[in-house]
Amino acid sequence: PLYKSMFGLSELEEKLRAAFGLKQVLIVQGDSETSVQTKRELGRAACQVLRATIRPSDVVAVTGGTTLSHVANQLAPTASMKDIWFVPARGGLGESLDYQANTLASTMAKRTGGHYRLLHVPDHLGEEAFASLMQEPNIKEIVSVIRSARIVVHGIGDAMVMARRRKLEHDVVEAMKADGALAEAFGFYFDRSGSVVHKMQTVGLRLEDIVNTECVIGVAGGAGKGEAIAAVMRFGHNDVLVTDEAAALEIVSLL
Ligand code: F6P
Repeated sequence: PLYKSMFGLSELEEKLRAAFGLKQVLIVQGDSETSVQTKRELGRAACQVLRATIRPSDVVAVTGGTTLSHVANQLAPTASMKDIWFVPARGGLGESLDYQANTLASTMAKRTGGHYRLLHVPDHLGEEAFASLMQEPNIKEIVSVIRSARIVVHGIGDAMVMARRRKLEHDVVEAMKADGALAEAFGFYFDRSGSVVHKMQTVGLRLEDIVNTECVIGVAGGAGKGEAIAAVMRFGHNDVLVTDEAAALEIVSLL
């Protein structure tokens, strides 16, 4: 294809790194939207980044999603992965069991010989039930562990795709659209400029926790996610982006 003669992958990486002020950008070849092989490579690249970043006794908070499941399922134990705690970044976000953050945190722990803690918050609680659940000592304790994470590994989605996947109510979706919601990460919906326009009701990492986390690693690819990835990068608190060629080219065309 034409783009290969125009950009080398490392040139693309540097372009994106500089555009969003990131510490590191890793791009794998291909389009993970259309190729499972590429999605696997994306997961593998994220494992590499995690391996290089992790230190003994770290707390690592992870989100759910199909991309992150490719990360979880390719992790392997290394010397640096001693006594790691894997925790979900936030409570239930309406994902199916295989792709829930809880599931992926436990998979990561099992695959690396680490530990995990789960956060049991049902997806659609009424306000009263939610408020009383938040008073539970167990929940408070795990939430404080989650907020102490030094590393966060998260997926990124298109806002409307995620709204559909989570079966959000029509009115909520329309309001989000009107507010310009383009991207989703951690249960927060972002507009083009990276401002948060909607939040899912759940616990775990708050925006200020994400802002203060030492190492925030985003993992997302596919041409269709280009705009969403750019919006989350404009939010401005990522340190590392792991993506694919198709998304990267889409992002560059938006710069
Ligand atoms: O629901 C968890 C989550 O990480 C979202 O924050 C994100 O938008 C989505 O999953 C990404 O999912 P996928 O990798 O399947 O596109």
